Amino acid sequence: PTLLVLISGSGSNLQALIDATKSTPPLLSATITHVISNKKAAYGLTRAANAGIPTTYHNLVPYKKKHPTTEAAREAYDRDLAAHILKHKPDMVVCAGWMHILSPTCLGPLQGAGVDIINLHPALPGCFDGAGAIERALEAWERGEIDKTGVMIHHVITAVDRGTPIVVREVPFVEGDTLERVEERIHAVEHVEIVKATRIALDQRRERLEKS
Ligand code: GRF
Repeated sequence: PTLLVLISGSGSNLQALIDATKSTPPLLSATITHVISNKKAAYGLTRAANAGIPTTYHNLVPYKKKHPTTEAAREAYDRDLAAHILKHKPDMVVCAGWMHILSPTCLGPLQGAGVDIINLHPALPGCFDGAGAIERALEAWERGEIDKTGVMIHHVITAVDRGTPIVVREVPFVEGDTLERVEERIHAVEHVEIVKATRIALDQRRERLEKS
């Protein structure tokens, strides 16, 4: 099966997926055929290039220049994002550190084409949806509101970070934790869980397709 990975940043989770597909025996029996970033400076683009994986930088700026409102720009951007993705006919899209909400304009065509979409969210289900989840969890812990956080990978639906979880892994806080230490602990967990979740989601897809 083929994967298309969406990134916005360092791509450490993309790297975990690349390494898992290249290990012997492969931890992940899939091929990453394309990587798309919404950020030009995303180091994940370099990681993909180093692994011989073609990349696309999908830039929002031209859309903002062309359209009168931000809404119209994002609508056209999302429509073209779906078209870019469908061009590569992936079995699955993995959002790995992807920091752009996928609107129904993007999700509709993908779901219509039977493409599965999964997303990594560095928090527990229903907690700290959206950006800055790790920092907001640390602040909640410092206020004594929670005693642990976690990582989940879920199926993508239009409600942000609210799809059915595939894997969930709790991550403890440690006395005197700083943002850097929590991020480091969470990223180490992400790198394991994203491979596990992608494998499970591909197995679910294969079972679904065999039944249909
Ligand atoms: C991860 O916590 C991801 O969920 C968040 O950015 C962090 C690093 O992602 N969006 P990556 O290194 O770009 O994979």
